[in-house]
Amino acid sequence: MDRNLALEFVRVTEAASISCARLMGRGERDAADQAAVDAMRKALDSINVTGTVVIGEGERDEAPMLYIGEEFGKRGPDSPKVDVALDPLEGTNLCALGHNDAMSVIAIADHGHFLHAPDTYMDKVAVGPDCRGLLRYEMTTREKVEAVAHAKKKDVNEVTVTVLDRPRHEKLIADLRALGCRIRLISDGDISAALSTCNEETGIDLLLGSGGAPEGVISAAAVKCFGGDFIGKLMFRSDEEKARARKMGVTDFDKVYGIEDLARGNVMVSMTGVTDGAWLKGVKFYSWGCTTNSIVMRSATGTIRELNCRHRFDIKPM
Ligand code: FBP
Repeated sequence: MDRNLALEFVRVTEAASISCARLMGRGERDAADQAAVDAMRKALDSINVTGTVVIGEGERDEAPMLYIGEEFGKRGPDSPKVDVALDPLEGTNLCALGHNDAMSVIAIADHGHFLHAPDTYMDKVAVGPDCRGLLRYEMTTREKVEAVAHAKKKDVNEVTVTVLDRPRHEKLIADLRALGCRIRLISDGDISAALSTCNEETGIDLLLGSGGAPEGVISAAAVKCFGGDFIGKLMFRSDEEKARARKMGVTDFDKVYGIEDLARGNVMVSMTGVTDGAWLKGVKFYSWGCTTNSIVMRSATGTIRELNCRHRFDIKPM
């Protein structure tokens, strides 16, 4: 994949973020999501690729735009073939309520390199580079936390685990409390949370618990760029979910996916803040336009670029 593509794709997440940021705090989650989808879809066609959405807004019959299998880009004879896993607005509730950590994100890989994750839950484990290769899915919660504490030369009560605050995590949270580690419960946005394990400044050491499987693939790609580690296992609540997974090529329902199974080979990720967050600043509007804050990353080199951009609406209306 051409390295310049990463900088092309940042325009896509910027456009989506600017568009939905106008609806921040209005309580209209669907409208905010739609604004991000519309802007992202439009921006994608300006890129010189033959692209396919493999993780998007849903299956063709349920999403008019950015559906799984949809093609985009200039699609010229020399355009590289890429697959994308995207979330035009990750944290729709966060944006609708004006809370932190809403963002727009897209991950790019060579054709065929992302797991075609069904829209089910995935049980997730994410850690930063200093714990790469250390954890196995089968380890107990205690073993995972103790291994992270040991690797980071901390006491267990200094390790911070982030978990989505959901009733389904009642036992996990009780186990973590019994262990005595620190817990950061989040209301939404586990891509940002997974990535937080890769940045010492966030104070987050480990992500545990289940969230969306599509978000799991995007998280794996982003964590990979930082040299961290990610493990996921699909969770099924019904036979209907299993049937959907089967349709997408999943044959082993008990498989534990490592980072290479989820995002193989070289990947690139671009993310732009919608609201302020642990990683990214949100969109800010001014008389002349707005500012955006993005990070663009490539696993091939481990280069992480932070881009602060000023967008002049009088020259280029958005
Ligand atoms: P959306 O932006 O699609 O609303 O997803 C937000 C999110 O919090 C994800 O980050 C997470 O993976 C998933 O929802 C968790 O799902 P649920 O809210 O059903 O627990």
